[in-house]
Amino acid sequence: MVELNRERMPRHVAIIMDGNGRWAKQHGVPRLAGHRAGMEAMKKIVDHSDKLGIKYLTVYAFSTENWKRSMEEVSGIFKLLVVFVNRDLKELVDNNVRVEVLGDYSMIPEDSKEALERTLARTKDDTGLQFNIALNYGGRDEIRRSVEQIARRAANGEIKPEDVTEDMIGQGLWTGSEHAYSPDPELIIRTSGEERLSNFMLWQGAYSEFVFSDVLWPDFTPDEFEKCIAEYQSRDRRFGGR
Ligand code: IPE
Ligand code: IPE
Ligand code: MG
Repeated sequence: MVELNRERMPRHVAIIMDGNGRWAKQHGVPRLAGHRAGMEAMKKIVDHSDKLGIKYLTVYAFSTENWKRSMEEVSGIFKLLVVFVNRDLKELVDNNVRVEVLGDYSMIPEDSKEALERTLARTKDDTGLQFNIALNYGGRDEIRRSVEQIARRAANGEIKPEDVTEDMIGQGLWTGSEHAYSPDPELIIRTSGEERLSNFMLWQGAYSEFVFSDVLWPDFTPDEFEKCIAEYQSRDRRFGGR
């Protein structure tokens, strides 16, 4: 186990959970079995984040581009989400975890939506870890939505174009909404050896530290998670200063 500095824990950690498909291939099982294993890994990371005293954990579960995958895979992913929330709802409540969704999930299958809404309602007053599930999430999409709201206010004469501030743009993002408010992530982790953002937290990640792990998401353990946090703690963050 690595030694973590409790004084330098990131408040918000965001994870691009990648590599479920390759894990499945490696094990000679269907892609959905990879997503199922990925869900188990996610569960352990939620528990562990809470133990480490992290306040906000965001996981990238489904992107606005993931609709390009086969119907079978897409509907399978949403079914797994129902399994997760139904099975673990009690534990989330017991652990005081508040679940929030980042993204427009209005078009996901009805049963998944119901299960999700039940979870959001049951955990909404919890004051422990805020667990954000980025679902049908796209960084460009959320910036476009925020700009649309601002353009509307300008067109109504509520504000002048030159009054637009960075804060206004931030407030219009999913992480700026009152219920799902989250500070910018200090740390963004991506697994499976890929080193790109794939449309994740484009605005919020302006000064995030990136840690890339070669481990495929289903094999990502609390131990590996701690290694990523230790790597973050060794970085010198400068924010453009000297
Ligand atoms: C990440 O695993 C999960 C989702 C995008 C839903 P992938 O399914 O992208 O796994 P690889 O990249 O094909 O290995
Ligand atoms: C990013 O992974 C999206 C999620 C992890 C949900 P992808 O596997 O979809 O990204 P690309 O296609 O490799 O960039
Ligand atoms: Mg992938």
